[in-house]
Amino acid sequence: MKSASGHPSATIAGTPSLSSMFDLVNDEMALVEDWLKSNLIDDNAFVEELLKQIFCAGGKRIRPLIVLLSSKATAREVGKLSRLHIILAVLTELIHTASLVHDDVIDKASMRRGQETINKKWNDRIAVLMGDLLFAQASICLARIMNPVVVGIYGQVLGDLCSGEIKQMRQQFNTTVDWNAYIDKSVSKTASLFGAGSHSGAILNGCSNDVIQSLKEYGLNLGICFQIVDDLLDITGSTIETGKAVGSDLRNGVVTAPAMFVLEKNNEASARLKNLIDSRDIQTDEGAEEALQLIRDNGGVESTVALAQKYANDSIASLSLLKDSSYKTALAQLAEYVMTRTT
Ligand code: IPE
Ligand code: IPE
Ligand code: MG
Ligand code: MG
Repeated sequence: MKSASGHPSATIAGTPSLSSMFDLVNDEMALVEDWLKSNLIDDNAFVEELLKQIFCAGGKRIRPLIVLLSSKATAREVGKLSRLHIILAVLTELIHTASLVHDDVIDKASMRRGQETINKKWNDRIAVLMGDLLFAQASICLARIMNPVVVGIYGQVLGDLCSGEIKQMRQQFNTTVDWNAYIDKSVSKTASLFGAGSHSGAILNGCSNDVIQSLKEYGLNLGICFQIVDDLLDITGSTIETGKAVGSDLRNGVVTAPAMFVLEKNNEASARLKNLIDSRDIQTDEGAEEALQLIRDNGGVESTVALAQKYANDSIASLSLLKDSSYKTALAQLAEYVMTRTT
């Protein structure tokens, strides 16, 4: 698992490396990391230990990267940020991290960022409270920004995260293919935060509505793409690289794009996959392996890549209103990176 300070310098030949994007915000990202570390101090030693466990495990820091790049791209003096933008990047990562701690309880996950989850190492009750503590830290940051529009945007995100997880729970083991419901759920649990992070900096910069809206579109489309790729990595990825157990979505009855493309085929493969899910055989080692094979053999992977690419293209197209800068270029490259990511 690569940490924020150890990004791979190159991915597949020709695809942009994440480190080249981080290079554009090196100084600001160092401030974000300092701020995140300063949050690790608590007067209770046990709480402090838990906070360290969460933050020292790393994470890609994609969301603060989006905040910083989009803020720099739209700054009055391009590239110049204020303290408020740093706080915005910090709180976006805090909300993301809190949502992961809660998500691992919901998904009964035992590994995250290459380490044992809080719920596995301790228990669900502690994980719920630690997630809440991180949300509380994020709300203190939000107050410091002193912008009611941004408070409203992030308030909406907090609600979306919850409704996204609830929508997913309601669709568990459901083999009826409903693409609108799948995208809607992905917007709520993932893209909503990407969208908030991508346009709030432009609001602080006093940009025109057109620019603010196009950055919001950028983040929403990139977030959907990010979740689709995440769903794909649950099937094609490796635990060493993702730092998470692979194959866990299907076992949990979370039916995502790669399986949906097979289920909608109406042939022998779709009938077999449906049967594995309906019978809950998918929860066994053999059932899960057979389902993964059916998805691989019946175009589930290729179709999912194509779907994610559509959202990546839409996110890049949303940037057209922005004036040219290295930050705008990096935002476009970020969409390409998301398509090729393995971590
Ligand atoms: C994982 O997000 C959760 C999803 C929205 C799919 P990341 O892949 O950004 O997680 P970290 O922060 O790098 O661990
Ligand atoms: C994204 O969904 C979770 C959140 C946005 C909180 P997943 O359940 O797919 O995320 P991972 O795979 O556990 O990181
Ligand atoms: Mg999960
Ligand atoms: Mg996932």
